[in-house]
Amino acid sequence: MDEFHKKSDISGDALDKMLAGDVSRRNFLKFCTGVAVVMGLPFGMGAKIAEAVMNPKRPPVIWLSAQECTGCTESLLRTNHPTVDKLILELISLDYHETLNAGSGRQAEEALRKSMQENKGKYILVVDGSIPVKDGGIYCKIGGKTALSLLEEQGSQAAAVIAIGSCASWGGVPSADPNPTGATPVHEVFRSKGIKTPVVNIPGCPPNGYNFLSTVLYFLTFKKLPELDDQGRPKFAYGRIIHENCERRPHFDAGRFAMEFGDEGHRKGYCLYKLGCKGPETFNNCPTLLYCDVGSGAWPVGTGHPCFGCSEKGVGFTAPLHSPSRPLYITPPSFFTEIYPGKEGVSPGTKALAAGVAGAAIGAAGAAIVAGLGKKDEDKKDKEE
Ligand code: SF4
Ligand code: SF4
Ligand code: F3S
Repeated sequence: MDEFHKKSDISGDALDKMLAGDVSRRNFLKFCTGVAVVMGLPFGMGAKIAEAVMNPKRPPVIWLSAQECTGCTESLLRTNHPTVDKLILELISLDYHETLNAGSGRQAEEALRKSMQENKGKYILVVDGSIPVKDGGIYCKIGGKTALSLLEEQGSQAAAVIAIGSCASWGGVPSADPNPTGATPVHEVFRSKGIKTPVVNIPGCPPNGYNFLSTVLYFLTFKKLPELDDQGRPKFAYGRIIHENCERRPHFDAGRFAMEFGDEGHRKGYCLYKLGCKGPETFNNCPTLLYCDVGSGAWPVGTGHPCFGCSEKGVGFTAPLHSPSRPLYITPPSFFTEIYPGKEGVSPGTKALAAGVAGAAIGAAGAAIVAGLGKKDEDKKDKEE
């Protein structure tokens, strides 16, 4: 038995029962450790997170959808990894979600009322989509009520609110000029109505499911929200600009740019700044956490497309797609990296250098543990033990 398992007093039977079929116990504990590392928590906190998740009393969650495209929900459900949807849907009590409700109409509305009454001040409210406030909020109605009045009612009685996606966090697509419905983010509605419930923003279009999951797990474990920045975003996920951790950064520093899609520089993996990459002004952990659990390169810049700043207020859906970004920090390189013109792509050494320069090692390590969950060889090993 390794050190981590010795430290954990989690009942193997209970955990195995809960996770039956999809994720082995060893991998689940590893996953919780990975989540802890991603959030910048000490290594041993993984066991604490696992214990909180195992609590048989599932925390009630009400999900309110306003002006949205359902992409945020879809991205959580379509992860090819079993853990995110399993944790979200089975370990919380999702009492109301318009897309996922088994019932509809009056039946669904009754379930919502019941959960709100029974869990007043204790439930987590998740909101996706922006709130139209123009003309009394008539542009989005659910069950005959405006999203504005529903947010006011549900938000004022919640323990905390998670605004998932750029729409809920800062307006997103519906707020793009000329913002015909007066699309407004959740925290601004709260401010104007004097609602004091804490709000955490998880921007992105859609955001990475692991950032949402980590925030939920943090709340379950510590009964409070993680440390937030001045825009209400968890610092563990949005503490650094993409440009700092990008694998193409050494090419930026060396002045090597793709000038057109498909040109030689593009094919060789050079920096996409001149194609309009907004990485230098966008805070997110896309380069270290990656997407879809398919390994390295699975993020916009990794696939050869400039970041368009989907998570950043004033950048995504605001700045022209291919206009040059406005770098927040110009960090003069202390030395230039070696680049081999004859070699396609970015060498592993260059990637490591980028990570090292950016100080991304901790985030990347956590991401690697998280992304490694469910690997077939590990599961096979588990079964053999
Ligand atoms: Fe859709 Fe993007 Fe808005 Fe999420 S943030 S609801 S994916 S438009
Ligand atoms: Fe990466 Fe974009 Fe920065 Fe170039 S400009 S290093 S592609 S984030
Ligand atoms: Fe969005 Fe840019 Fe990440 S477009 S997904 S913030 S790389």
